[in-house]
Amino acid sequence: MKEVQSFKLLAMAVSMTTLICSCYSHVDPECHMTTPQIIEYYGHISESHNVTTKDGYILTLHRILQKTTSQKGVVFLQHGLLDSSATWAMNTYNDSLGFVLAQEGYDVWLGNVRGNYYSQHHVSLTTKDPEYWDFSFDEHAKYDLPAMLEYVLSKSWHHGSLSYVGHSQGTLMALIEFSRNKQLASQVNLFTALAPVGRVNNAVGAFKLVSDILPEIVAVTDKLGIYNFAPLTPAVSEIAILLCPIIPSICSEVFYVIAGPDQYLNSSRVPVYGSHAPAGTSIKNILHWNQIYLAKQPQMWDYGSAEENLAHYNTTKPPAYQYSGLEVPTIFFSGGNDYLGDPEDVVWLMGQLQSGVLKDSYTYDGYAHLSCLWALNAREWVFDKIIGHLNTVWA
Ligand SMILES: *[C@@H]1O[C@H](CO)[C@@H](O)[C@H](O)[C@H]1NC(C)=O
Ligand SMILES: *[C@@H]1O[C@H](CO)[C@@H](O)[C@H](O)[C@H]1NC(C)=O
Ligand SMILES: *[C@@H]1O[C@H](CO)[C@@H](O)[C@H](O)[C@H]1NC(C)=O
Ligand SMILES: *[C@@H]1O[C@H](CO)[C@@H](O)[C@H](O)[C@H]1NC(C)=O
Repeated sequence: MKEVQSFKLLAMAVSMTTLICSCYSHVDPECHMTTPQIIEYYGHISESHNVTTKDGYILTLHRILQKTTSQKGVVFLQHGLLDSSATWAMNTYNDSLGFVLAQEGYDVWLGNVRGNYYSQHHVSLTTKDPEYWDFSFDEHAKYDLPAMLEYVLSKSWHHGSLSYVGHSQGTLMALIEFSRNKQLASQVNLFTALAPVGRVNNAVGAFKLVSDILPEIVAVTDKLGIYNFAPLTPAVSEIAILLCPIIPSICSEVFYVIAGPDQYLNSSRVPVYGSHAPAGTSIKNILHWNQIYLAKQPQMWDYGSAEENLAHYNTTKPPAYQYSGLEVPTIFFSGGNDYLGDPEDVVWLMGQLQSGVLKDSYTYDGYAHLSCLWALNAREWVFDKIIGHLNTVWA
């Protein structure tokens, strides 16, 4: 009884505080918009397209169109782990890659992998079914990526090819699939990897913290029948939106723990970032990330026993992913302070690629895992360089 009372008091205190804070703080309108709404807010035409994968997942792609202009080329942007299409549109207008590319004249498509906020449908399953959540980045690479890219290639004004920009898990998916799916890879004329992740042997920060307590987390979620991980929760976002402007240091701190110390973070913008992420994935995906961290190599899902692995792979251990098959011209942007794309792992990844594949590589000391997306100087250090490469490819 006493606990219930104190909980009620605490809840009241929190809502009073948020209420008071909301009167004194400026809230960016993008906090309460979806990706298509942000696109329209800035005067672009937004389109949403459903794409069905071979295994029945319905993914929603977003598209940023210019009102006028001839199209220079087609660019597909793929978000990272626990993220969504919003990542390319939620920074200030002239500092969001999606809008920068659209203004430059490109036909911009934004992917959303299965299980995130925007891609929650399936031809026969619902998100209440445990089977729906039976996926990891293996399936993002094997099913989601080809389905999304083939759709864009068929629908876009230019049917022959597209340029791909991936962030974090969006680079892992591409490394895996472009290395083995030559037919798909031959239609990609440029692969830009932001905070590239080919393995996570040296990951630290929140990734390592979660890794340490993952067995305990899974024990609880299993018991409760929860199969999704960190879905977008408006109530939690609301508290962040209202409290972050008052105590920006704490909110920035949360970012540093996840992504690494970021010298170029716009701390006033953190409420917007926090209102669109984390955008959800499966617990199995988190477990798979942890498996490759513990195994110290990128590999397929480990079923946990020699018999089961044999049944699925005809080998007792899960097959390792190879990146030596990659032939798509590639550009890297990485950060010296990145907690997930550790500099040592990035150097290892470069060594896995055939010579000549990596056309250019930029490493910035003060950059962490999310800097390539939102840093105060990303326009100059990242976006303008991407445009330079794109304009050459599409000339
Ligand atoms: C996509 O599919 C879902 C579920 O079938 C549906 O609710 C939604 O309206 C569709 N969106 C578009 C743009 O077709
Ligand atoms: C974006 O930059 C252009 C010029 O580069 C400027 O005309 C425009 O006002 C800017 N838009 C916003 C929303 O800041
Ligand atoms: C930082 O974020 C705030 C809040 O969204 C925004 O008003 C400001 O323009 C941003 N600063 C820069 C330099 O982009
Ligand atoms: C499974 O692996 C064994 C030993 O490497 C090989 O002889 C056999 O042909 C493989 N079977 C299949 C179905 O690939």
